[in-house]
Amino acid sequence: MITVATSSPEETAVLATTLAETAEPGDLLVLVGDLGAGKTAFSKAYGKALGVDERMTSPTFTLARQYEGRLTLHHLDVYRLEQMSEVLDLDLPDLLESGGVVLIEWGDAIMPMLPQDFLEIRFTFGEGDDDRSIEIRPVGPRWCGREETLSALGGQVGESSC
Ligand SMILES: Nc1ncnc2c1ncn2[C@@H]1O[C@H](COP(=O)(O)OP(=O)(O)OP(=O)(O)O)[C@@H](O)[C@H]1O
Ligand SMILES: [Mg+2]
Repeated sequence: MITVATSSPEETAVLATTLAETAEPGDLLVLVGDLGAGKTAFSKAYGKALGVDERMTSPTFTLARQYEGRLTLHHLDVYRLEQMSEVLDLDLPDLLESGGVVLIEWGDAIMPMLPQDFLEIRFTFGEGDDDRSIEIRPVGPRWCGREETLSALGGQVGESSC
């Protein structure tokens, strides 16, 4: 696990940019954290760095939005999910296998339904209004094999989750 401390939305955007620049088809990022923690801010910066020109909006009420960049980006928010069957309808394995990149806000809510190969990004509030602690945890072979990408994030290295 790697922990990155940021003290502005711009610093969080740098982190998102690094991950987007090294994005590979089939990448799944699970964004976790309370209301206002920075999941959407991260997602927008990620999309921008992936080459999405369209304005990204929070998919809270729509569950999923699709954008075209260097890769197809699927931005999901499962906060208002009413039934787990809605996740099945999204067909995550298909989105990933067809070369897309998937970001899921509140992804911990559907953890048991996720392919067990993802990067978990957990946002917690720090002392100041704009301080965030961002824990990055690789799960499964895809992300455990991307040490170089993860060390490029420049955070504090903690106990391995691999
Ligand atoms: N270090 C930081 N990193 C990210 N966002 C920050 C930071 N400091 C302040 N912010 C601000 O915090 C807010 C984060 O809101 P955002 O919509 O990204 O949260 P969220 O986690 O998606 O919440 P929700 O669960 O309601 O969708 C934004 O207004 C952003 O500008
Ligand atoms: Mg959000």
